[in-house]
Amino acid sequence: MTKASEKGRAVAAAEQAPLSSPASAPTSAPLTVLGIETSCDETAVAVLRLHPAPPGEDGPGRAEVLADIVYSQVKEHAAFGGVVPEIAARAHVALLDRLLRAALDEAGLRWRDIDAVAATAGPGLIGGLLVGLMSAKAIALAHRVPLLAVNHLQAHALSPMLAGAGVRPPYLLLLVSGGHTQLISVDDIDRYRRLGTTIDDALGEAFDKVAKMLDLGYPGGPAVERLAAQGDAARFDFPRPMLRREECHFSFSGLKTAVRTAILDLAGSGAATQNGGSSLREQDRADICASFQQAVVDTLADRVRCAMGRFRGLHPQARQPWLVLAGGVAANAAIRAALEEVARAEGFRLAAPPVRLCTDNAVMVAHVGALKLARGEVDGLDVSARPRWPLDEAAEPAPFAGVKG
Ligand code: KG4
Ligand code: ZN
Repeated sequence: MTKASEKGRAVAAAEQAPLSSPASAPTSAPLTVLGIETSCDETAVAVLRLHPAPPGEDGPGRAEVLADIVYSQVKEHAAFGGVVPEIAARAHVALLDRLLRAALDEAGLRWRDIDAVAATAGPGLIGGLLVGLMSAKAIALAHRVPLLAVNHLQAHALSPMLAGAGVRPPYLLLLVSGGHTQLISVDDIDRYRRLGTTIDDALGEAFDKVAKMLDLGYPGGPAVERLAAQGDAARFDFPRPMLRREECHFSFSGLKTAVRTAILDLAGSGAATQNGGSSLREQDRADICASFQQAVVDTLADRVRCAMGRFRGLHPQARQPWLVLAGGVAANAAIRAALEEVARAEGFRLAAPPVRLCTDNAVMVAHVGALKLARGEVDGLDVSARPRWPLDEAAEPAPFAGVKG
């Protein structure tokens, strides 16, 4: 059978597949997949072509990015100091059609050149997820192509495979974003074991809240990092939560409270307002940012070391395993440098993908879609958006954990 007809077979079988069932035989033809990401405040569309591994070579093949468009809704949310779900969903509706056309133009393709459409189906904000997933369903129906519902965390988790360093599972993943802080053993592209998670705030959320307290604007992470570069990291002795605990979990709410207390102390007892930070001297704000970031760096280094021990136990055969960073907070240079050091000391190799791949994008969504399609998996048109969708469904809830998982 020729490659083209093999691909045709996979696509045709997917079209006829009963709803919500795995589809056809895997294909070994190049697959061109449109990806849509709308789970938070980025509206993103991408086109990715997955070329099969050459005969005799194992592996997922080579991914070629044909279009990569990200519209960040930062301006829409800046006045509120965080993402407003309703505003995000409306902005996705207003933007998506235009971005879909722009992505096809950028790729130099027409609808008939697309083999499948992949959209983030969760976890994330339900309004945004529905916008992206419903658009993908409409495209699947109108253009008679398979639909792939992608887990956003899986998309982040596999994004380092796109960076060209030769990263392949099994590897240890530190996923740190605005909504998630997890240490995961990526056993295979569809098998994950959670080794640690946050019992309260996500790390990106802690950066954003500290930035808000200091009146640094949104998103907070980059602003805190910039100011930290001019500050004294030893001035404030902020707590390092969960240090040396046997389980590899995280907690950031105590650290956030300590920052708030320091701000209020500096601002004076009369200034106990939400924005006590705006009345501080520039050097005080820089010192707070530097001390906060140092506490984060020390905590991450300790928790990652913990997970490395667990990972070695799970994969005793892995030689010089990869420690892989993903999620928006992985853009932080101080965190990258510290984890580089930890990796070297513990016999791991660090893979930190380019910042554009760390933050939310649709290339990573199209990538997971293409990998699934290549294995013959598709989703039915009745697939639902899932605001909560853990990578490791079997993971126990973390002790004292709130809603995050
Ligand atoms: O993965 P992402 O783009 O969106 C999701 O949350 O899924 O991550 C966004 C988060 C925000 O909380 C932002 O403040 C944080 O990543 N972030 C950073 C940096 N750049 C982005 N945090 C610390 N340092 C940075 N340089
Ligand atoms: Zn994300």
